[in-house]
Amino acid sequence: MKRIAIMTSGGDAPGMNAAIRAVVRAGMDHGIEVYGIRQAYTGLLNGDMSLMTSREVSGILQRGGTVLQTARNEEFKTPQGQRKAVRRLNEHEIEGMIVIGGDGSLRGAMALQKLGIPTIGIPASIDNDIWGTNMSIGVDTTLNIILDALDRLRDTATSHNRAFLLEVMGRNCGYLALMGGILGGAEVVVTPEKALTMQEVAASMQDAYTRGKSHAIAVIAEGAPYKITELADYLNSHDTGFEIRITILGHIQRGGSPSAFDRLLATRMGVAALERIVAGESGVMVGLDGRVISNVLLEDVTTKTRPISEEYYAMAYTLSR
Ligand code: ADP
Ligand code: F6P
Repeated sequence: MKRIAIMTSGGDAPGMNAAIRAVVRAGMDHGIEVYGIRQAYTGLLNGDMSLMTSREVSGILQRGGTVLQTARNEEFKTPQGQRKAVRRLNEHEIEGMIVIGGDGSLRGAMALQKLGIPTIGIPASIDNDIWGTNMSIGVDTTLNIILDALDRLRDTATSHNRAFLLEVMGRNCGYLALMGGILGGAEVVVTPEKALTMQEVAASMQDAYTRGKSHAIAVIAEGAPYKITELADYLNSHDTGFEIRITILGHIQRGGSPSAFDRLLATRMGVAALERIVAGESGVMVGLDGRVISNVLLEDVTTKTRPISEEYYAMAYTLSR
């Protein structure tokens, strides 16, 4: 194998650059040319790719976002789009692909693999919803941003005897809300998988008030069955003892310099992905299993759903009292 290509796809995640750097530098060590595809599957379909040199990945380890940029692309989901993509790879004499991204992007990786392009996936998504890895690249950095926000909100909430509703990302997965709630000491957590009713949220807040708390914090995942503003209106009309304020954290959660954990994870996964493709392995995603970088079949990654442990829900409830 002489030449492979790499892309970052789906929602950006802090640490994607560290993974790109690791693949390119490890590639040089193995005498492999690494082409960077710009804007994910869109760039692949347009043939927008070029050789990445060592200097091009200098100074990106600590940068958030992705220097290759990212995109979402509908055409690539079709069989015609996928055949066009393979044609582009053949035109550039690319013999293997490394796809860095979330579960959707990894479904794209699986499609390339099925069409005969040896492909390895690297899990990167702040949502931590990818099956087969304890942690995806970006999750740790995002959680730290959420915790920073929660700590700040608690200071002001306590000073004013207020309840804060904090909306965090996660359209389909409540991992960030649940872990943010546990680690930030929230009174209430609402996730798409296990959503409390608005009545239950109000009851928890009333309970916090009668137990003498000077604040109440609820972490609400973006994918909750009701909007944060609806919940605020409901709570305002059902005396909880607290004045209600809302904060929507939004895309602030996806930006910024990756944490030490994410830099290490991305670096290890980048090196492992490169070494595996050189060794002739493909159709797998590199994952974190305990302290080990494991191999997980892309077939499994793209067909299984990562569950959130019931233990964490129980812990969030017990420790909120
Ligand atoms: P993420 O990778 O963060 O989960 P998306 O779900 O938006 O983000 O997927 C990113 C891109 O991956 C999509 O825009 C599309 O180009 C590609 N993709 C997603 N699902 C599939 C699929 N089933 N088959 C082929 N490509 C897919
Ligand atoms: O998948 C990552 C993620 O940040 C989700 O948590 C969020 O729901 C979504 O992407 C937001 O997507 P966009 O950046 O397209 O608004």
